[in-house]
Parts: sequence; structure tokens; C-alpha cells
Amino acid sequence: MAAPSPWDATRAREIIDAHLELEGPALPILHALQETFGHVPREAVPMVASALNVSRAEMHGIVTFYHDFREEPAGEHVVKVCRAESCQSRGGREIGDRIAALLGLKWYETSADGRVTLEPVYCLGLCTMGPNAMVDGKPVARIDKVGAARLVEEVTR
Ligand code: FES
Repeated sequence: MAAPSPWDATRAREIIDAHLELEGPALPILHALQETFGHVPREAVPMVASALNVSRAEMHGIVTFYHDFREEPAGEHVVKVCRAESCQSRGGREIGDRIAALLGLKWYETSADGRVTLEPVYCLGLCTMGPNAMVDGKPVARIDKVGAARLVEEVTR
């Protein structure tokens, strides 16, 4: 995962302009902004709203509606635990709750030291190997209690 770039209005403008010809450009623009800056910077929201001729409130509503978008920078490590059905049926709920408890975080929270962000994800395409998670973009499969503790140790040390 590439390190997020610091806020740069010129770069944001380029990203917005590069997507304006798409049909339904709002989500692709927001994804591209997040890909570049690690989150959707609040400074970018009025720029996107203006480019798409919608109100700031509408654009803010889109950003907050989709949990994929972060309004704040993520932690150094991002742990995404699958909460979808197949993983749930393999004990994923308990594993997710265990990881959250070991990290001392709620879903969508980042630790106070900025080390870890915990997020749910809804299917990683590895259903037969659940319970699954993704740590910094890398899948972690068949997580049991020991695996959950190991995962937490790796992202907090
Ligand atoms: S349900 Fe978890 S990977 Fe598909």
C-alpha cells in the first residue's frame, strides 16, 4: 500500500478533472481522492461538489453514507475483518469481536497512537477459507483465536 500523499489542492483538482467525463463520476472521484490522500480530505469535498454542481451537504452525505470512505486519515495499519455471511457462519463474528477487544477499538476507530484502524469489510472473495481479514491490503485467512492474537500483535508492536 502506497503511503498517502499530503493534501495538495492542485493534485485534488487534477483527480477531479480526470474523472468528470465518466458517467456517475462522484464515487470514482472520491475513491481516487482516498487512494491518493488516504482519506477524503474535507478540503476536497467543496471542490468535488462544485465540479459536479451539487451542494456541499449532498457531497458530504455521499462521503458519510459509504463506509468505504474515510474522513480522517487511517492509522499506520488498517485491519479489515470480514463480517459477511460466509465468514460469520465460520465464527467470524466472534473472531472480529475478539480482534476488536484485543485492539481496544470499535469498528471504524483508529487507535489514539495512530497505529491501527479497525474496519469491517463485507466479503473478500475468500469465503471458503474464513474467517478472513485483510491487513494492510494483504488477506489473512482461517483466523482462529491464536491467529487473532498474532494478527493484533503484528499490528501493535
Ligand atoms: S464472506 Fe468473508 S470472505 Fe466472503
